[in-house]
Amino acid sequence: PGIAFGLDAPYSVEYHDRVGSTNERARELAGEDAADVAVVANEQTGSRGRLDREWVAPSGGVWLSVLTRPDVPTARAPLFTLAAAVATTDAARQAGVDARIKWPNDVLVGDGTPEESAPASDLGGRGGRKLAGILTEMEGEADRVGWLVVGVGVNANLDPETLPAGATSLSAERGAPVDRRRFAATLLERYAELTASPGALDGVLPAWRERASTLGRRVRVEAADGVVEGTAVDVAEPGALVVDTDEGRRRVHAGDCEHLRG
Ligand code: BTN
Repeated sequence: PGIAFGLDAPYSVEYHDRVGSTNERARELAGEDAADVAVVANEQTGSRGRLDREWVAPSGGVWLSVLTRPDVPTARAPLFTLAAAVATTDAARQAGVDARIKWPNDVLVGDGTPEESAPASDLGGRGGRKLAGILTEMEGEADRVGWLVVGVGVNANLDPETLPAGATSLSAERGAPVDRRRFAATLLERYAELTASPGALDGVLPAWRERASTLGRRVRVEAADGVVEGTAVDVAEPGALVVDTDEGRRRVHAGDCEHLRG
């Protein structure tokens, strides 16, 4: 059953019952000069996560990638990833699941603080119960994004037993399957709205803040130039985490974030 047949979306939809990776397929389309396409799959056989991790994507999830060619400077590209996290969170909430965002773009259930016995997850969402992840890929010049592919993987109707440690699914959290077509339509509609124009993009950070579980918490971030530990106080353009540390205030642009106790 194709989740994308009859999918009402503000993009043209290319549906695959099975594909290697929707991000990979969207990149191929970018090479053919396509734009405003959502590649949606029922199952992926070679999907990728952040930091070269593998991403488990069997039938039952919502696996999609949106290809656009936004007319914005490359420095603002991280806002598209944050917008996808907001859109995914809103779609999950509409499905009755209390989703929140862990910086930069993991969608979790609960606050993401590791439970005493919970093992570190190989999904990167340590201890938290991870519902969804986002992988953005792009090409462009400094003054303008060329193409941008935002890939979203949502554990929709999946048994958490079959997922990596630390992961959960919408169906497990709400106790009933979700309508994947409706979920994908809501997600794509919200994403399109949040990224429609430079003015709309200005609304992404405020929306992200409202849905964040990371702000106000003690965090440990493995950033490119070392580990930053402190209290997360804000997220700033274009998506940096602002952390108060013993040595003062730091901005972290990318990295793996862990919520600490206390
Ligand atoms: C993460 O590591 O948290 C990001 C996971 C992103 C997975 C999605 S599934 C749809 C799209 N296609 C891919 O190959 N990856 C992304």
